Amino acid sequence: MTQNPWIELESVIRAQLELQVELSLDRHQQFMLKYGLAQCQNVVDIGTGNGLFLRKLAQRHPMIKFHGIDDKAHMIEEAKSRSETNVDWTQADALDESVQTMLGTTDGILMRYFVLHMPNTSISLPQILSRVRPGTYVWIFDLDTDYCVCEPEQDAYNSFVDLVRSFCDKNSVQIRTGSMLPPILEATGFEIQEVCAEPFNNQEIDPKLFAEYLFREATLYHHFLEGTHSSEKLREIEHFFFEVMDRDMHFVQYGMAMIGAVKNRF
Ligand SMILES: C[S@@+](CC[C@H](N)C(=O)[O-])C[C@H]1O[C@@H](n2cnc3c(N)ncnc32)[C@H](O)[C@@H]1O
Repeated sequence: MTQNPWIELESVIRAQLELQVELSLDRHQQFMLKYGLAQCQNVVDIGTGNGLFLRKLAQRHPMIKFHGIDDKAHMIEEAKSRSETNVDWTQADALDESVQTMLGTTDGILMRYFVLHMPNTSISLPQILSRVRPGTYVWIFDLDTDYCVCEPEQDAYNSFVDLVRSFCDKNSVQIRTGSMLPPILEATGFEIQEVCAEPFNNQEIDPKLFAEYLFREATLYHHFLEGTHSSEKLREIEHFFFEVMDRDMHFVQYGMAMIGAVKNRF
């Protein structure tokens, strides 16, 4: 087990981030538009990673100024290598004073697959958002195994969800986004506009890409937990995703939560 699994296996993770953007860009953009994006002039993406999602979003909204923040130098370097005129990038820790100051002047804050990576979310999230102005929108997209579904139930899918849970437990990542974050946001002065399960499932997404995404996810989590890409358990998961899962016979959803919130005016 590595100290920082997000840095290791970088190329596989990058391929997975790219597929994730391809599969979710439209849905996440629509959700952001439903909750205020078009009213924003400045949007900050915290934990922007290699900036792929933000760059594509910025291309679709040339009148909005976007700022991507990540604490990893290699992520920001990669983001800068394919920049857009309406995006800038900053290497900073989300808990830095400078980031809180920046968030006090923005009118939209995006956190995709970021907030649960922060230690002590109930303390760190209010700290990050402490200077946010009234009327500022927040959009959060993240894992939530409560929204994982396989109907009818399949042992291989349960093994997959167990892998995700075990990985997150081992890394102290709390993954119950939909139930955990809204009370924290409300206590920080936000009004929750919507909390819902993202329709990230085999009815909405191309079945081949969906299977590829889920299996790569399983392989990564398995590797981080067991140090290998091969086991009977992983072969059973692979068999289910590529040879058994059929959208006419199974409803399979990977658990992702979407949260829209706005800072209270009073
Ligand atoms: C799973 S990636 C998500 C990347 C991107 N938001 C996306 O949706 O593809 C999480 C990112 O958060 C960044 N990160 C983790 N802790 C951070 C912190 N304290 N401050 C800033 N960025 C952080 C990591 O470097 C990583 O790039």
